Parts: sequence; C-alpha cells; structure tokens
Amino acid sequence: YEIYLNGLTGAVPRLPADLTRLGEMAERRLGPGPVGYVAGSAGSGATERANREALDRWRIVPRMLRDVSRRDLSVEVLGRELPAPLALAPIGVLSIMHPEAEKAAARAAAARGVPFILSSASSTPMEEVAAAMGDAERWFQLYWGRDREVTRSFLSRAKAAGFGVLVVTLDTPMLAWRPRDLDQAYLPFLYGVGTANYFTDPAFQAGLARPVHEDMNAAVLHFSANFGDPGKTWPDLAELREQWDGPIVLKGVLHPDDARRAADAGMDGVVVSNHGGRQVNGSIGAADALPGVAEAVGDRLTVLFDSGIRTGDDVVKALALGARAVLLGRPYAYGLGLDGQAGVEHVIRCLLAETDLTLALSGCSGPADLHPDLLVRA
Ligand code: FNR
Repeated sequence: YEIYLNGLTGAVPRLPADLTRLGEMAERRLGPGPVGYVAGSAGSGATERANREALDRWRIVPRMLRDVSRRDLSVEVLGRELPAPLALAPIGVLSIMHPEAEKAAARAAAARGVPFILSSASSTPMEEVAAAMGDAERWFQLYWGRDREVTRSFLSRAKAAGFGVLVVTLDTPMLAWRPRDLDQAYLPFLYGVGTANYFTDPAFQAGLARPVHEDMNAAVLHFSANFGDPGKTWPDLAELREQWDGPIVLKGVLHPDDARRAADAGMDGVVVSNHGGRQVNGSIGAADALPGVAEAVGDRLTVLFDSGIRTGDDVVKALALGARAVLLGRPYAYGLGLDGQAGVEHVIRCLLAETDLTLALSGCSGPADLHPDLLVRA
C-alpha cells in the first residue's frame, strides 16, 4: 500500500511496477551500445525466448480458504537465513550502466538483505564492493580461467573480503556468438570495462609484460585470453574444493547428469541457468531443465535457478518446480542504469512484493508451501 498511500499526496513512482518495461526505458535513456550488451542474447535469441516460454507454460492453480494472513518469505540457503528466496545474479561490467556500478547494486542488495553475487568481471575491485556492503551477505562468482595463480589469488582475496559462497560459472569458457555486440562492434571488456577486479590482482599483474597503466591494450588482451578455459573437466573441481572451505555452487547446470556429477565432486549447490540465454542459442529453457535437476539432486544439493525471472509468479513457479531461491539478472541492471542504488532497490522491492501477493492469492504462506502440485502445464 506504500505506493498507493504516497499517491494520495500526488507522488507516483519514478520507475514502473512492471519490471519488463525497464529494458526499453534504459535503452532510450542510455543508448543502444551499453544496453545492447546487457539486453543482448546469443544467436537469434531463441534461448531467451525459450526461457520465457518455459516459465509461461506453467500455470498456477490458486487455492482458496487456506488462512494466508501470516506470511513469511524467508528461506534457509546454504546455511544462511535469507529474508527472501532471492539473490542478485553476478553481472559483470556494471559501470556501463551507472558510474557507481557494483557498489550501488551491492548497497541496494545489502539494504534489502538480499545476497549480492559479485562477478569476477566486476568493474570495481572486490575489496571496494565488500567495504560498501558492511557485513551484508555477499557471494563471489568465479570465471575459472587458465591461470591457476589468478584463481588462487581471487579465492584468497574473496575469502579475506568476506565473500561467503563461491559461485563457479561453467557455461562461459568463452563468450558466445552475440549478434547485438557483433553488429555494434561493442565489447565492453575491450574498452577496459569490467576488468578492474583483474587489473588490481597481483597474480594477474604478474602475468603482464608491462604494468597495466603503461599498456592498457595488452592488459585487456591478456584478460580476454585468460578469463575462460575451455580445457577444464570435472576432475579439475578437486582443486577448487581444496582451496575454498565454504559452500561452492556451480552455475550453468542444465542436465541432471551434470548435477549428479556436481554432487559427486563435493559441491554444495547448482544454479540451473543458461546465462539468461546469452550462451547456447537454441538451448533448453532454464525452467524446463529445473524439474529434472531438482529430482536428480534435490536431496543432495541446494538447487538455485535463474534465466528469465521477471515477475512474482515467475519466482513462485521456480520455487514450486524445486528451486530453493532464484537469482535475478537483467532487471536489476536496468534499475541501476535508470536510478542507481534506488533503482535496484525499486526492482528488488517490486519483485518481492509481487511474489508475496502471488503466494497469498494462491493460498500459500511461504516458500515451504510451494510444490509442483500448485502448477499445471498449459
Ligand atoms: C550476465 N551473467 C553473468 N554470469 C556470470 O556468472 N558472470 C558474469 O560476469 C555475468 N555477466 C553478465 C552480464 C550481463 C550483462 C548479463 C545480462 C548477464 C549472467 C547472469 O548471472 C544470469 O545468469 C542471467 O542474467 C539470468 O538471466 P536474466 O535474469 O537476465 O534473464
């Protein structure tokens, strides 16, 4: 009711309550280059559409007269008590959206008690983001590159800076074919955007012939050549397991067998995700992969979900299909671009308010009430 009550004094929100409108607004305000990078997806966009279709094919069957007067969105995730089943997904290069970049997004997450997952490809060094967050919940996403020393250094810096969970992204050993970026010949990394976290790393610097400030182009090329490693295989995870004593979550898992392998490798969780449709064009919609993964490892691993979450009913559906919590991607990046920290807070609050209403109106009091039998396939 906060919005309606403010409306009595003539105040209307600066950003729309329908988060699907933010992308278009951001593009009008910030221009097609940067927003094209954020909005873009792989190939013909088939996977991004599949994400939408997969969520839309499920329909909620609301139940009545179930006393939903007391509701609670909180969940336990990887031993952490969270106020809601939501985290902000790792998004690199946020300085293309706003000068305060990752710090503004992290402060918004901290203000709302939502974990912030910092990308390896952050435009702000991880220590500065941590300092902006106080003791709020933060996770670190690793691009698991070729250079072992950089990986080792990232993990020890992340540990020292209070990042509690390691999220290892498996679906991006290289960037996919992304037509919007190709057509505009725009790749933020090549402008040195999203590389600050690497450029401030002693192990990364040790791999350069000359210091970053003396030869920026060489540093950017070194980053491009090293951020991914297509040669990695499942046994390599043992090395990460040894180096990180907190929970490890593998992001980008779509096949139940890969989820089983994650469990066998001593991992703590998986994110069922296709990177928001930015990697394999023509891949399975993430929500179509979720039930199979949840069935295969739901009793052994924490199953998280992203790719396509835009509304409260999307959150409800993902939880009903077996996710413990969801990650939100592009909408918060647009919120950041449009209104900095306040824009990200707007996005978080709208999504959670709509989630709460959808739960209540469906006859559920919290995430524990969500099961597949709340849904039918259209
Ligand atoms: C991403 N994503 C991503 N993932 C990751 O593990 N490390 C990263 O640095 C990035 N960077 C990134 C940049 C941009 C601009 C986008 C849009 C996405 C993927 C992200 O974490 C998440 O999986 C998707 O964004 C989820 O899909 P939706 O919510 O955007 O549909």
